[in-house]
Amino acid sequence: MIRTPRLRLVPLPAADHLRLARGLRPRSVAAPADFPGGADPVPGWLHERHGIRASRDPAAARWLLRAILLRDGTMAGHIGFHDVPDPRIPAFADATFEGDVPQVGGPAAELGYTVFPPHRRRGYATEAASALVAWALGDEHLAGVVATTAEGNEASRRVLTSAGLEVIGRCRDQDGEKELVWWRPGA
Ligand SMILES: CC(C)(COP(=O)(O)OP(=O)(O)OC[C@H]1O[C@@H](n2cnc3c(N)ncnc32)[C@H](O)[C@@H]1OP(=O)(O)O)[C@@H](O)C(=O)NCCC(=O)NCCS
Repeated sequence: MIRTPRLRLVPLPAADHLRLARGLRPRSVAAPADFPGGADPVPGWLHERHGIRASRDPAAARWLLRAILLRDGTMAGHIGFHDVPDPRIPAFADATFEGDVPQVGGPAAELGYTVFPPHRRRGYATEAASALVAWALGDEHLAGVVATTAEGNEASRRVLTSAGLEVIGRCRDQDGEKELVWWRPGA
């Protein structure tokens, strides 16, 4: 578990990833009654991939989606990496990528996060992302952290900047919308 002054970032068990893939509330934490209630932008296939990964290798769960818990145990959102660290980074390999691909001499991890609407604009995403990135970069084998975010997503841009990532290029998502590609190298 990762602790910050106001939050706990708690890995979810395989069963909860698989529940999320079916649009159901996780059981191991106090998720909001209306979860996901339109507040979960993570596609079902990604939750399912996490569930399969975590059931094969429970130690992998620390890299996958974690619940963001407030002091009273309420789940305020989730944060994690899209997969366990991998030297193949989808954003850099994307045919629409424009920019300077960094020399990546090892596995990297792609960050994603959501804070549920009632809990936004209180600095939780900034606090959680900064802590998770610092935790990840504490792994000497990790070459870096990557993220993509829509150009117009001002809140997410600020979160990533606070977590020490920088824009290194641009690509387009599945719907053809422009995205910024962010990167922070490991030590
Ligand atoms: C992006 C998101 C996670 C931000 O969560 P949050 O907890 O509200 O973020 P924070 O409170 O830490 O705010 C971060 C910064 O963005 C600013 N901000 C927050 N919401 C904003 C908004 N709607 N418009 C402009 N700025 C905003 C804050 O003032 C803060 O600025 P600062 O760094 O200058 O202090 C949240 O809006 C969300 O879940 N959005 C939907 C999912 C998403 O876009 N995920 C990111 C995909 S990569």
